[in-house]
Amino acid sequence: MTDLHDILLDKRAIADKVEELAMQISKDYTGKELLLVCILKGAFTFTADLMRSLTIPTTVEFIQVSSYGSSTTSSQNIFIKQDVAADLKGKHVLLVDAIIDSGKTLALVLQKFSERGPASLATVALLDKKSRRTENIHLTYRGFEIPDIFVVGYGLDFSEKFRNLPYIASVNPLEQP
Ligand code: IMP
Ligand code: MG
Repeated sequence: MTDLHDILLDKRAIADKVEELAMQISKDYTGKELLLVCILKGAFTFTADLMRSLTIPTTVEFIQVSSYGSSTTSSQNIFIKQDVAADLKGKHVLLVDAIIDSGKTLALVLQKFSERGPASLATVALLDKKSRRTENIHLTYRGFEIPDIFVVGYGLDFSEKFRNLPYIASVNPLEQP
């Protein structure tokens, strides 16, 4: 059993931040309809909470990005494993991810989506490991900037485990992938 240590962000801190992000997004998109695109699997919890705090008309789609070879923290050789079903033409699209590391995942999806004629294309991530960034991507809405540590919970996994934790915790360095 992996030893988790240090709760980095508790339930309350996450809920407050999600509410703050939702208020800002609702304000920015007033009078418009928003299409949230949840980047699976990590962002499913964040997307569900964010969506319920938005006060504007919202629809949701899901996309899964995967990498060839073994799983690593930073995505190498990534590809879209499951694409959205909806036509993005003329839609206000907001990409939702749980955490940005190198930025490769978001860069790939942004590039593909920008070719599909959305009315607008923006990004939101709950967590940002800014110091790890290698791609030049624009994060429109950021929850928390966090240091370069491996975290789990609130949708994020370590070997598919711990997604169900209601808080975000760091993993013991000896156990990190
Ligand atoms: P990027 O493509 O390098 O930005 O990586 C983003 C993806 O890596 C996220 O969507 C997560 O799936 C995964 N990831 C990065 N850092 C962590 C972490 O600390 N815990 C869990 N997953 C992570
Ligand atoms: Mg993962």
